[in-house]
Amino acid sequence: MTLLAVLSDIHGNGIAMEQFAFEVDKIKPDAIICLGDTLGYLDEEIKCYEILEKIHAIHLMGNHEAMALGIIEINSEFEDVYKLNDAKSRLSIDTLKNIRNFPREANLIDRNFKAEFYHGNPADPLNGRVYFDTKIEPKNNQTNFIFVGNTHRSFSQTNLWGKVINVGSLGLPRDNGSLGTFVLVDTEKNLISRQFIDFNLDKMFNKYRFSHRSVLENFHKREKIADFN
Ligand SMILES: [Fe+2]
Repeated sequence: MTLLAVLSDIHGNGIAMEQFAFEVDKIKPDAIICLGDTLGYLDEEIKCYEILEKIHAIHLMGNHEAMALGIIEINSEFEDVYKLNDAKSRLSIDTLKNIRNFPREANLIDRNFKAEFYHGNPADPLNGRVYFDTKIEPKNNQTNFIFVGNTHRSFSQTNLWGKVINVGSLGLPRDNGSLGTFVLVDTEKNLISRQFIDFNLDKMFNKYRFSHRSVLENFHKREKIADFN
Protein backbone atom coordinates (compact mmCIF):
# COMPACT_ATOMS: atom_id res chain seq x y z
CA MET A 1 0.00 0.00 0.00
CA THR A 2 1.13 3.53 -0.69
CA LEU A 3 -1.75 5.93 -0.51
CA LEU A 4 -4.33 6.00 2.26
CA ALA A 5 -7.24 8.44 2.70
CA VAL A 6 -8.63 8.98 6.20
CA LEU A 7 -11.85 10.85 6.95
CA SER A 8 -14.24 11.20 9.88
CA ASP A 9 -17.41 12.85 11.19
CA ILE A 10 -19.41 13.16 7.98
CA HIS A 11 -22.63 13.51 10.01
CA GLY A 12 -25.10 13.01 7.19
CA ASN A 13 -23.57 15.65 4.95
CA GLY A 14 -24.26 13.97 1.61
CA ILE A 15 -23.01 16.98 -0.36
CA ALA A 16 -19.56 16.81 1.28
CA MET A 17 -19.60 13.03 0.91
CA GLU A 18 -20.18 13.34 -2.85
CA GLN A 19 -17.34 15.87 -3.12
CA PHE A 20 -15.05 13.49 -1.24
CA ALA A 21 -16.02 10.60 -3.55
CA PHE A 22 -15.27 12.83 -6.54
CA GLU A 23 -11.83 13.68 -5.12
CA VAL A 24 -10.85 10.10 -4.29
CA ASP A 25 -11.98 9.00 -7.72
CA LYS A 26 -9.24 11.28 -9.09
CA ILE A 27 -6.64 10.42 -6.42
CA LYS A 28 -7.40 6.68 -6.34
CA PRO A 29 -6.04 5.83 -2.87
CA ASP A 30 -5.23 2.19 -2.13
CA ALA A 31 -7.42 2.25 1.00
CA ILE A 32 -9.92 4.55 2.69
CA ILE A 33 -10.61 4.59 6.43
CA CYS A 34 -13.59 6.41 7.91
CA LEU A 35 -13.23 7.01 11.66
CA GLY A 36 -16.98 7.06 12.39
CA ASP A 37 -19.88 9.45 13.02
CA THR A 38 -21.41 9.19 9.58
CA LEU A 39 -24.89 9.94 10.98
CA GLY A 40 -26.40 12.59 13.24
CA TYR A 41 -27.02 16.36 12.80
CA LEU A 42 -27.72 16.34 9.02
CA ASP A 43 -30.14 13.97 7.33
CA GLU A 44 -28.37 12.31 4.40
CA GLU A 45 -26.74 9.45 6.29
CA ILE A 46 -28.15 6.80 3.91
CA LYS A 47 -26.38 8.38 0.94
CA CYS A 48 -23.17 8.66 3.00
CA TYR A 49 -23.13 5.01 4.10
CA GLU A 50 -23.91 3.93 0.51
CA ILE A 51 -21.04 5.97 -0.94
CA LEU A 52 -18.63 4.70 1.73
CA GLU A 53 -19.61 1.13 0.89
CA LYS A 54 -19.21 1.79 -2.82
CA ILE A 55 -15.68 3.14 -2.38
CA HIS A 56 -14.84 0.19 -0.05
CA ALA A 57 -14.09 2.35 2.97
CA ILE A 58 -13.23 0.63 6.25
CA HIS A 59 -15.64 2.11 8.80
CA LEU A 60 -14.99 2.46 12.54
CA MET A 61 -17.76 3.09 15.05
CA GLY A 62 -18.21 6.66 16.29
CA ASN A 63 -20.02 7.83 19.41
CA HIS A 64 -23.01 8.91 17.30
CA GLU A 65 -23.37 5.44 15.79
CA ALA A 66 -23.05 4.00 19.31
CA MET A 67 -25.72 6.39 20.63
CA ALA A 68 -28.08 5.66 17.73
CA LEU A 69 -27.81 1.92 18.43
CA GLY A 70 -28.20 2.32 22.21
CA ILE A 71 -24.64 1.07 22.85
CA ILE A 72 -23.93 4.23 24.80
CA GLU A 73 -26.50 6.45 26.42
CA ILE A 74 -27.83 9.46 24.58
CA ASN A 75 -28.49 12.59 26.56
CA SER A 76 -32.12 13.28 25.58
CA GLU A 77 -31.67 17.06 25.72
CA PHE A 78 -29.40 16.82 22.65
CA GLU A 79 -31.77 14.77 20.52
CA ASP A 80 -33.19 17.88 18.82
CA VAL A 81 -29.67 18.66 17.63
CA TYR A 82 -28.36 15.16 16.93
CA LYS A 83 -31.60 13.80 15.43
CA LEU A 84 -30.36 10.24 15.92
CA ASN A 85 -33.81 8.70 16.30
CA ASP A 86 -34.80 10.14 12.91
CA ALA A 87 -31.59 8.80 11.37
CA LYS A 88 -32.10 5.37 12.88
CA SER A 89 -35.67 5.18 11.62
CA ARG A 90 -34.49 5.84 8.05
CA LEU A 91 -31.81 3.12 8.03
CA SER A 92 -32.52 -0.42 6.83
CA ILE A 93 -32.16 -3.39 9.17
CA ASP A 94 -29.13 -4.54 7.15
CA THR A 95 -27.39 -1.19 7.49
CA LEU A 96 -28.09 -1.13 11.24
CA LYS A 97 -26.61 -4.62 11.49
CA ASN A 98 -23.52 -3.49 9.62
CA ILE A 99 -23.14 -0.47 11.89
CA ARG A 100 -23.38 -2.69 14.98
CA ASN A 101 -20.40 -4.64 13.63
CA PHE A 102 -18.21 -1.59 12.99
CA PRO A 103 -14.92 -2.08 14.85
CA ARG A 104 -13.89 0.48 17.48
CA GLU A 105 -10.28 0.61 16.43
CA ALA A 106 -8.01 -0.40 13.57
CA ASN A 107 -4.29 -0.93 13.12
CA LEU A 108 -2.24 -0.73 9.99
CA ILE A 109 1.38 -1.70 9.56
CA ASP A 110 3.05 -1.06 6.23
CA ARG A 111 6.83 -1.23 6.49
CA ASN A 112 7.82 1.82 8.62
CA PHE A 113 4.26 3.13 8.84
CA LYS A 114 2.71 1.73 12.04
CA ALA A 115 -0.63 3.34 12.78
CA GLU A 116 -3.55 3.09 15.18
CA PHE A 117 -6.98 4.50 14.25
CA TYR A 118 -9.79 5.55 16.61
CA HIS A 119 -12.85 7.76 16.56
CA GLY A 120 -11.96 9.05 20.05
CA ASN A 121 -8.58 7.97 21.42
CA PRO A 122 -6.75 4.80 22.57
CA ALA A 123 -8.11 5.05 26.13
CA ASP A 124 -11.69 5.81 25.07
CA PRO A 125 -12.20 4.79 21.41
CA LEU A 126 -15.80 6.05 21.16
CA ASN A 127 -15.93 9.22 23.24
CA GLY A 128 -12.33 10.35 23.79
CA ARG A 129 -11.54 13.87 22.62
CA VAL A 130 -8.12 14.81 21.33
CA TYR A 131 -7.38 18.52 20.91
CA PHE A 132 -4.13 20.20 19.90
CA ASP A 133 -2.81 20.24 23.49
CA THR A 134 -4.13 16.80 24.55
CA LYS A 135 -1.44 14.23 25.32
CA ILE A 136 -2.13 10.63 24.33
CA GLU A 137 -0.05 7.47 24.15
CA PRO A 138 -0.38 4.64 21.63
CA LYS A 139 -1.52 1.17 22.71
CA ASN A 140 1.31 -0.58 20.90
CA ASN A 141 4.84 0.57 21.57
CA GLN A 142 5.83 0.33 17.89
CA THR A 143 3.13 2.74 16.75
CA ASN A 144 4.37 5.94 15.13
CA PHE A 145 1.01 7.43 14.06
CA ILE A 146 -2.37 7.71 15.81
CA PHE A 147 -5.32 8.92 13.73
CA VAL A 148 -8.40 10.28 15.50
CA GLY A 149 -11.57 12.26 14.77
CA ASN A 150 -14.48 13.26 17.03
CA THR A 151 -13.57 16.88 17.85
CA HIS A 152 -14.23 18.18 14.31
CA ARG A 153 -10.95 20.14 14.47
CA SER A 154 -8.02 19.01 12.36
CA PHE A 155 -4.38 19.28 13.43
CA SER A 156 -1.19 17.31 13.69
CA GLN A 157 0.90 17.01 16.83
CA THR A 158 4.46 15.64 17.10
CA ASN A 159 5.42 13.58 20.16
CA LEU A 160 8.44 11.58 21.28
CA TRP A 161 6.85 8.34 20.00
CA GLY A 162 5.45 9.79 16.75
CA LYS A 163 2.50 11.85 15.53
CA VAL A 164 -1.15 12.36 16.39
CA ILE A 165 -3.27 13.26 13.40
CA ASN A 166 -6.75 14.58 14.01
CA VAL A 167 -8.36 14.33 10.59
CA GLY A 168 -11.10 16.83 11.52
CA SER A 169 -14.61 16.55 10.10
CA LEU A 170 -15.59 16.05 6.50
CA GLY A 171 -19.19 17.14 7.02
CA LEU A 172 -19.38 19.50 10.00
CA PRO A 173 -16.03 21.18 10.76
CA ARG A 174 -16.05 23.28 13.94
CA ASP A 175 -13.05 25.52 13.17
CA ASN A 176 -13.79 26.84 9.70
CA GLY A 177 -17.35 25.69 9.09
CA SER A 178 -17.09 26.00 5.33
CA LEU A 179 -14.07 23.72 4.87
CA GLY A 180 -14.47 19.98 5.34
CA THR A 181 -11.22 18.09 5.91
CA PHE A 182 -9.66 14.69 5.35
CA VAL A 183 -6.07 13.50 5.14
CA LEU A 184 -3.95 11.63 2.62
CA VAL A 185 -1.11 9.44 3.80
CA ASP A 186 1.82 8.21 1.77
CA THR A 187 2.70 5.13 3.82
CA GLU A 188 5.96 4.59 1.97
CA LYS A 189 7.36 8.03 2.79
CA ASN A 190 5.35 8.57 6.01
CA LEU A 191 4.07 11.84 4.52
CA ILE A 192 0.68 13.18 5.54
CA SER A 193 -1.22 16.03 3.95
CA ARG A 194 -4.47 17.69 4.97
CA GLN A 195 -7.03 18.14 2.22
CA PHE A 196 -9.94 20.59 2.18
CA ILE A 197 -13.40 20.26 0.70
CA ASP A 198 -14.74 23.73 -0.03
CA PHE A 199 -18.46 23.69 0.76
CA ASN A 200 -21.12 25.14 -1.50
CA LEU A 201 -22.94 26.77 1.43
CA ASP A 202 -26.03 27.90 -0.51
CA LYS A 203 -26.60 24.33 -1.56
CA MET A 204 -26.07 23.07 1.99
CA PHE A 205 -28.35 25.64 3.64
CA ASN A 206 -31.08 24.70 1.22
CA LYS A 207 -30.60 20.95 1.46
CA TYR A 208 -30.29 20.81 5.24
CA ARG A 209 -32.72 23.59 6.13
CA PHE A 210 -34.62 21.30 8.54
CA SER A 211 -31.51 20.72 10.69
CA HIS A 212 -31.19 22.37 14.10
CA ARG A 213 -30.38 26.10 13.95
CA SER A 214 -27.09 25.58 15.84
CA VAL A 215 -25.97 23.07 13.20
CA LEU A 216 -26.66 25.50 10.36
CA GLU A 217 -24.91 28.29 12.29
CA ASN A 218 -21.85 26.05 12.51
CA PHE A 219 -21.33 26.47 8.75
CA HIS A 220 -20.71 30.19 9.41
CA LYS A 221 -17.82 29.58 11.86
CA ARG A 222 -14.49 31.05 10.72
CA GLU A 223 -11.99 30.23 13.48
CA LYS A 224 -8.32 29.81 12.69
CA ILE A 225 -7.50 26.29 11.54
CA ALA A 226 -4.74 24.64 13.61
CA ASP A 227 -1.32 23.91 12.11
CA PHE A 228 -0.70 20.72 10.24
CA ASN A 229 2.85 19.77 9.45
FE1 LIG B 1 -18.76 13.78 15.40
